[in-house]
Amino acid sequence: MAQAPGKRLATEVSEAEIAVHWKEERYYHPPARFIAQANLADPAVNERFSVERFPECFREYADLLTWDRYWHTTLDTSEAPFWKWFVGGRLNACFNCVDRHLAQYGNKAAFIFVPEPEDAPHEVITYRELFTRVNEVAWVLREVAGLRAGDRVTLHMPMTPELPVTMLACARLGVIHSVVFGGFSGEACGIRAADSGSRVLVTMDGYYRNGNVLDHKAQADIAVRTAEQEGQQIDKVLIWRRFRDRPASDTPLRPGRDYVMNELVSQHAGKIVEPVSMDALAPLFLMYTSGTTGRPKGCQHGTGGYLSYVAGTSKYIQDIHPTDVYWCFADIGWITGHSYIVYGPLALAATGVLYEGVPTYPDAGRPWRIAERLGVNIFHTSPTTIRMLRKVGPEEPRKYRYRFKCMTTVGEPIEPEAWIWYHEVVGRGEAVITDTWWQTENGGFLCSTKPALDAMKPGSAGPAMPGIYPVIYDEDGREIPPGSNKAGNICIRNPWPGIMQTIWGDRDRYVRQYYAKYCKNKNSKDWRDWPYFAGDGAMQAADGYYRILGRVDDVINVAGHRLGTKELESACLTVPEVAEAAVVPVVDELKGRVPDVYVSLRPGVNPSDAIRDKVVRAIETTISKIARPKTVRIVPDMPKTRSGKIMRRVLAAISNNMETGDVTTLANPDVVEQIRTMVQGAGPVRTAAGPEDIKRFGETST
Ligand code: WT7
Repeated sequence: MAQAPGKRLATEVSEAEIAVHWKEERYYHPPARFIAQANLADPAVNERFSVERFPECFREYADLLTWDRYWHTTLDTSEAPFWKWFVGGRLNACFNCVDRHLAQYGNKAAFIFVPEPEDAPHEVITYRELFTRVNEVAWVLREVAGLRAGDRVTLHMPMTPELPVTMLACARLGVIHSVVFGGFSGEACGIRAADSGSRVLVTMDGYYRNGNVLDHKAQADIAVRTAEQEGQQIDKVLIWRRFRDRPASDTPLRPGRDYVMNELVSQHAGKIVEPVSMDALAPLFLMYTSGTTGRPKGCQHGTGGYLSYVAGTSKYIQDIHPTDVYWCFADIGWITGHSYIVYGPLALAATGVLYEGVPTYPDAGRPWRIAERLGVNIFHTSPTTIRMLRKVGPEEPRKYRYRFKCMTTVGEPIEPEAWIWYHEVVGRGEAVITDTWWQTENGGFLCSTKPALDAMKPGSAGPAMPGIYPVIYDEDGREIPPGSNKAGNICIRNPWPGIMQTIWGDRDRYVRQYYAKYCKNKNSKDWRDWPYFAGDGAMQAADGYYRILGRVDDVINVAGHRLGTKELESACLTVPEVAEAAVVPVVDELKGRVPDVYVSLRPGVNPSDAIRDKVVRAIETTISKIARPKTVRIVPDMPKTRSGKIMRRVLAAISNNMETGDVTTLANPDVVEQIRTMVQGAGPVRTAAGPEDIKRFGETST
């Protein structure tokens, strides 16, 4: 039996302690049709972005923008590791995303908004209309809320056009926005608002989620109260109405503090605000992200470097042309949405789809109906969404007449099984896939295939992006030989324009978290001495492709053998009955850790010992007997964050009889209770692995 686990267990396991053995997949090549129209089809790009040309190579991205004043220094490292890109330059991000497109694309759609209810009409927002709305909102922010360049403002909003409009209005004024994901609680929002020092909160009264209108105004009241407890006064709450003609929430307005944005905007209809010319180094926004420990970190992104990087990567990797219809199915409340719904695509005058709701509302055909109706030809989503859509509607894409030229996956390693379904069924075998690896801190992609130039390999993010030079180190800072297929901690040797500037208000933590680990000379002003520590385990194959193993705290070390939870999960997914799988480490007195497997089944499949046995066999045959799980538990669903990530840590806590901690911010806290009951044996034992299973696997262990 498992020992009483120590308190640090759930986080101390490190994924960089493992090796991965997803079987090497075959290459898939980009079709000639895609290559013929691609923005980046010239292999000389590798040369242009070679290390000898660094940092000047990134001029190419910055030249996609319109500068008020050209910069004089491409990269200033005098305060390493606080990197300064395009020093001396001045520009306005909103001008670059809106104003400069008016002459050529004024009547082209910037956004097509799709509300969740399927009978509600689409809303088409042209670049001219976007310009009008952004100006009116900028006026309100400046004249009513009194916001000026450098002030911070927190946005806690759903996926409606008012969110990008408000962001761009901030950017127009040089006001630093801090968007908190709409699905976060009022409390989480309040803590972030306090950290950023926001006096103003912009929110919306309600929004659709899975067929219901949620009362979001109530969250604002909690946010203000929480911020106050944290010592930050929020004196104005600007509330957008989800419906033009009526409130979406019964929660009353607080006179003197709460304002209805729609009313303010119509009072100032047609007002124009000159874009404020900002220093390239001025912060554009903050984006909070969770660290392994402690409070959320406000990643601070600058104007010139960030905008250059997202414009360049949107052009070359997303392959966006102004004639494309691009749908990034992420939430703007995350970095993916900032970079690849708002700033990158708009800088290129793209037409983007904004969808309010959940992917499977009212059924699993919804995304494909939207794609068909709007003529979407670029699609961008996460492995979790791909797995979910595959689970509930594996054949649905075949029923609709959309045609994707390229598709992206982001956020987690994608199992080859899910990748292949995405490629064959969603992409009809003719869409190029980019598996893009990066992080909130990074601004934009770090690893990905260049869609017209590089072959794809399921399960691998691909080579480094142009101008990005990764290195893999072991725990002691020794370089793991390139192409050796050995796992370690992936780092980036060089700074790049999209890298965050600092953690808001905590420069020490920025250095500690990302640079201290592998920096050999803390006084150095040479970028070569400051590798960026990403916190992910990775390995590089002989072809130069990187396989990302996941966070370094998501690792299972079994008897000294390092196993990636993702490869175990991939093995589970080869069992046809299995829809989703999550593997967590559980303490074992003989082997240190062994994997505990949680699976959910496809609809209509009943749990059985036969399925559990199949899963064990799948793991043994695709990986090794050393990876044999302690138990295989069949659960009704996985505990997930509101953004859809499986919370392995919660499962690890349950498996190890630890406290799960606060699970109220999850999408489905009830499932946690169900699973806990199952695992602890008090629930419906037939569907759960009880002590018998432990004994059974224990007896046959290698
Ligand atoms: C972590 C960053 C970047 C946008 C969304 C997530 C994991 C991200 C991939 C990928 C394997 C990936 C990493 C990373 N991750 N993309 N293509 N393959 N893993 O942003 O919340 O900052 O999370 O997501 O573990 O460190 P984030």
